[in-house]
Amino acid sequence: MAVKKVALVTGANKGIGLETVRQLAPHGFTVLLAARDPKKGEAVAESLRKEGLDVQFLKLDVTSESDQKAAAKFIAETYGKLDVLINNAGVLEHGYATPSKVPLDVIRKTFETNVFALIALTQELLPLIKKSDAGRIVNLSSILGSVATNASGQIGDFKLVGYNASKAAVNVFTVLLAQELKTTTVKVNAAHPGWVKTDMGTDAAPMEVIDGAKTSVRLATLPANGPTGGFFHMTDSLPW
Ligand SMILES: NC(=O)c1ccc[n+]([C@@H]2O[C@H](COP(=O)([O-])OP(=O)(O)OC[C@H]3O[C@@H](n4cnc5c(N)ncnc54)[C@H](OP(=O)(O)O)[C@@H]3O)[C@@H](O)[C@H]2O)c1
Repeated sequence: MAVKKVALVTGANKGIGLETVRQLAPHGFTVLLAARDPKKGEAVAESLRKEGLDVQFLKLDVTSESDQKAAAKFIAETYGKLDVLINNAGVLEHGYATPSKVPLDVIRKTFETNVFALIALTQELLPLIKKSDAGRIVNLSSILGSVATNASGQIGDFKLVGYNASKAAVNVFTVLLAQELKTTTVKVNAAHPGWVKTDMGTDAAPMEVIDGAKTSVRLATLPANGPTGGFFHMTDSLPW
């Protein structure tokens, strides 16, 4: 019997993360649906199992070092490897202040989850991802993290210094990690899901969550000749 592939999706109790778990599982994965709230995480994992999907809840506050280590230990002992890591958890702290006035606290809080936790969790799990035949790391970025797009003024009112800079930092981490892993089978890419109707995206967003998960799923299931070190929405490459 072929060994099943194992994927972990962070921040998966709702929104794009939850839909990503739903769409990824049928590609032959056991998916670890990671969430910081066990009640919410267990409930949605159970409902996906009722849909016939191979989904397990994993308690993971991405900012918690002890949760990161416990996740790595659990995966090592249970599966011995990790094929896919989707760093989906993210926050948009409301600092709609101009760059000259945005409170530093907003920026610090945003970086804690969107950047530092993402890097720490990836570092913790990388030894397990290297044990996969075809490891895939997908970092949820945003077009708002594109410096070129910020500079061109195409981001309208979304001039969020903390959030936008956090996603730009995710992009840099993605590129440099992909370069470091170039001689391995691990691919690392950044995803812009689109502007999606979720708690973060709000009802004003034009895209449904079913489409918002597609970029993450595609990058998680890239073939051996697929790209690494890229920044994508669907199949389109985005400007850095
Ligand atoms: N929606 C959009 O239009 C859009 C556009 C571009 C990029 N993105 C990115 O896509 C990703 C998913 O966004 P979304 O729209 O699905 O947002 P969402 O509905 O607000 O969901 C965010 C998820 O992240 C989790 N999370 C936050 N902090 C966490 C922590 N410390 N530990 C574990 N989980 C944590 C949340 O858990 P709780 O429920 O416990 O808070 C929730 O499950 C984010 O990285 C976001 O920046 C979204």
